[in-house]
Amino acid sequence: MTENGDFAALFTPFALAGKTLRNRIAHASMSTLSTPLGRVTEREINYHASRAEGGAALSVTEPLGMMRHQAGLPRLQVWRRDDADGLKRLADAVEGRDCRLLGQIQDAGRGRHFPGRNPEAIGASALPDDLSWTVPRALTAAEIRALIAEIAESAAYLQACGFSGVEISGGHGHLFHQFLSPHSNRRDDEYGGDWDGRTRIVAELVAALRDACGTDFIVGLKLPGDDGMAGSIGPAEAAVIADHLTRARNVDYVCFAGGAHARTLEMHTPDRHGPPMPYMHFIKELQSSLNGVPLMALGRITDPAEADGILARGEAQLIGMGRTLLADPAWPEKARTGRSWDIRYCLSCNTCWGTIVQQRQPVACVNNPRVGLADEADYWPERTDDPKRITVVGAGIAGMEAAWTAAARGHRVTVLGASEEPGGKARLREQLPGGETVSSIYDYQTAAAERAGATLVLGRRATADDIIALNPHRVILATGSTMIPPDWLPPDVQAEGWVRDLRDTLPDILPITARQPGTAVLYDTDHTEATYAAAEALNARFARTVIVTPRDAIATDVPMVTRQGILRRAAEQRIETVTLAEVRWTDAAAEGRLECVNIYNGDVTVIEDLALLTYATPRAPDDALAGPLRNAGIDVVTVGDARAPQEMLFATASGHAAGVGE
Ligand SMILES: Cc1cc2nc3c(=O)[nH]c(=O)nc-3n(C[C@H](O)[C@H](O)[C@H](O)COP(=O)(O)O)c2cc1C
Repeated sequence: MTENGDFAALFTPFALAGKTLRNRIAHASMSTLSTPLGRVTEREINYHASRAEGGAALSVTEPLGMMRHQAGLPRLQVWRRDDADGLKRLADAVEGRDCRLLGQIQDAGRGRHFPGRNPEAIGASALPDDLSWTVPRALTAAEIRALIAEIAESAAYLQACGFSGVEISGGHGHLFHQFLSPHSNRRDDEYGGDWDGRTRIVAELVAALRDACGTDFIVGLKLPGDDGMAGSIGPAEAAVIADHLTRARNVDYVCFAGGAHARTLEMHTPDRHGPPMPYMHFIKELQSSLNGVPLMALGRITDPAEADGILARGEAQLIGMGRTLLADPAWPEKARTGRSWDIRYCLSCNTCWGTIVQQRQPVACVNNPRVGLADEADYWPERTDDPKRITVVGAGIAGMEAAWTAAARGHRVTVLGASEEPGGKARLREQLPGGETVSSIYDYQTAAAERAGATLVLGRRATADDIIALNPHRVILATGSTMIPPDWLPPDVQAEGWVRDLRDTLPDILPITARQPGTAVLYDTDHTEATYAAAEALNARFARTVIVTPRDAIATDVPMVTRQGILRRAAEQRIETVTLAEVRWTDAAAEGRLECVNIYNGDVTVIEDLALLTYATPRAPDDALAGPLRNAGIDVVTVGDARAPQEMLFATASGHAAGVGE
């Protein structure tokens, strides 16, 4: 394939505010939580420099602290004017790689994703946030004008530090969105009342930015395209807003986002249970409301051919990608140079969201263990001067990540896997609803392992003697984990094998094509995403599915963007739940009557017509080989579930660290 070969539209340069973009690819703003102390960090520079190095023509930062009242947030505190050196280094690192750097302007207003309420919240009207029920303090008109002036001064400071522009985040249910929406803006002054009033704050902000920074400073605008809420902003209202805010033709591009701080938060980062490019239907329609201002398409665009098609068909002029470029910062360069096969694709699993919102940690990615490291873009390990014989036991995603990286380092790597194909339990997840994208992890790893010269010996469970016979210097043990049977399950029933864990049960259930009579019961003390994908698979095969859990709700360990979809689909598919309950085993279970007992008051719920009982429970590491191998004097490193059973993020991260020798 020639350079630019198949994707000519994607790699056609474009001009914005008199600046040249080398191609049409933009990194969409993603909160990275890499500046906890409000000052530029190496991680922050690495993150954006890597997206530039990987070929993006424009990169929008995470929201910046542009206003004094944002002082307590873990964002770059631009308003303090005390880190010009850091901001300049950030701008140089990105702009020096021919990528335009834009700072994002955003305030969450009344919006809040995590428990509790925000006492500092400001808003259009004193009405509750739809998620956290935080009631903000309504800004006065004078405060709004002061806030606009403050932002414009901070933008001028960014410009002086070498930034090419800013993006106003007017979507996602944040402060500006709250002003735009009739649902949250009930003001009767000049900043409310009608579309002129509700769009005024953004229109005045754009004008102030122009005054402060001139016309050769990029001003982008992210607007709600459809927030999914009754009485708020659907595509028709979005068209009116877009028209109002582009009439003056003083913004350089517009992009549209989905969802709000509400039950529609899941539309914010559409996941793998929905179609690819889910915003395109309204994006295409909204183009005609932009008064000729360039449109950036956004939302689960993961594939170069899809991106190129959008541009070639004239549906947009730019392509914005958040998670796609998180997963692989070199996506643009790989697409440009005919290496699309080498892309580590985004799974749309929203693990990244969980890392920042739930764990309050720097953003991380299942399919990119090097986020924020200096050599992240198009990473290939450096060769070692001291090659060793390394045996990786287990060909799941932890073992395969260790295998390809260790082999690429120049070690002589043999992988011993029990299954016929690499991928381990991730392969099972791939067969469940919303699992299609998972193969991207092990497909990349397998191809990379082959390229790096690892030897794969699959289809036989290795014994300690098999491994010792290979005389390895080091063993990387990636042998996974097993679900711990729940206390209520009598050992003899377990031995009979008719109540098995979910992972043992699914291979027998998945081939069933016709719906079976009876009830499938899933006892759940796992609460991770895969369990509910499995519940959907059970529900498609049994007349009724009931999830029983001792917690007060299901999916409590899943980040809210993903959890909303789990709860919605469970409701739509009529999957039932019995919460705050434990199973009580009685002989009646064998006749199809299962008793569930409320953990607080002892009330019994009987589930009739039991056709299948399975459980998803905490897992214990399968690390029995570690002892004998260590006794034989071999250096053993455990990774993935064999070290500490967790989600896929830990599997690839720990495998990667072991493989590269970090
Ligand atoms: C972890 C994460 C953090 C995000 N943070 C922001 C943000 O701070 N500001 C913003 O405008 N959008 C943010 N977004 C939304 C993205 O910019 C983008 O609109 C959305 O993810 C859909 O695009 P994608 O499918 O290419 O990721 C975030 C998305 C994710 C997954």
